[in-house]
Amino acid sequence: MITAVKQLGYIGLGASNLEAWERYAAEILGLQLCERGSDGTLYFRMDEFHHRISVHPDPADDLKLLGWEVADQSALDQLAAQIKDWGTEVQHGTPAEAAERAVYRLIKFTDPSGIASEAYYGALKYNTPFRSPRPISGFLTGEDFGMGHVVIAVDDFDRSASFYQEALGMRVTDIATPSGQRAERIGISSHMIFLHCNLRHHSIAFGSGSYSKRLNHFLLQVRDIDDVGATFDLCLDREVPLVSSIGKHANDLMISFYMKTPSGFGCEFGYGGREVDDRTWKVVMNRVTSLWGHRTINAL
Ligand SMILES: [Fe+2]
Repeated sequence: MITAVKQLGYIGLGASNLEAWERYAAEILGLQLCERGSDGTLYFRMDEFHHRISVHPDPADDLKLLGWEVADQSALDQLAAQIKDWGTEVQHGTPAEAAERAVYRLIKFTDPSGIASEAYYGALKYNTPFRSPRPISGFLTGEDFGMGHVVIAVDDFDRSASFYQEALGMRVTDIATPSGQRAERIGISSHMIFLHCNLRHHSIAFGSGSYSKRLNHFLLQVRDIDDVGATFDLCLDREVPLVSSIGKHANDLMISFYMKTPSGFGCEFGYGGREVDDRTWKVVMNRVTSLWGHRTINAL
């Protein structure tokens, strides 16, 4: 019996311009700044938890860490053993590290591309409602969906596909052929694989090829289609560089658009999309990534 992570709980981003991120995250994305670390790290809320996105001072302007949630101590122990069996070292996070992430316990490891990764349980909840600085409906997160998803470029497609399935227990949702529009846009020359660990169509997707950044984009999913349209308009008004027009993806059926963050990688802002029911799900391969739209405006 394989132990599986339950959700992409949090992501850490490295940014060279934290002031720009603070404005962008609050005024464009609608995230709520909840805390500032002693090193300047910005912690953003998007629901009842302490943070879902942390932005750390780092000139690399790329993905810094991925945090995967498990249910409890026994699941964390089992996952640690599974990751070691796969052939990757696992370290136990110190109490100070757990406090920094606002979780009770965590383990640390790196994925096959060297991405700093963590698994944890006992995320700190606030007993106050999430309040977006913008008048938006809020974000779809929670147990069944996690914070959103990330799309990354990996060094070795097969090793990464093996790791996320066999070490972290994720399941393949579907695959995009190398000729997919998105693959072309982000310099990916291999197949792209989409993996899930809950109802969200994918919590992580990746391919390999030539690319400028590890992180292509992260997704935030809002609860109302009007928030997607209003945010698209806001990007035009505030001259936030758009990566694509509004479109609908062929695999997860999400309606979204892509914008450029102050770090140069993308943010997908979306609504809707199908849920994965493992009892009936069947893996397919898609030749196009969008049914309509998602026309490139500024390439990443
Ligand atoms: Fe996406």
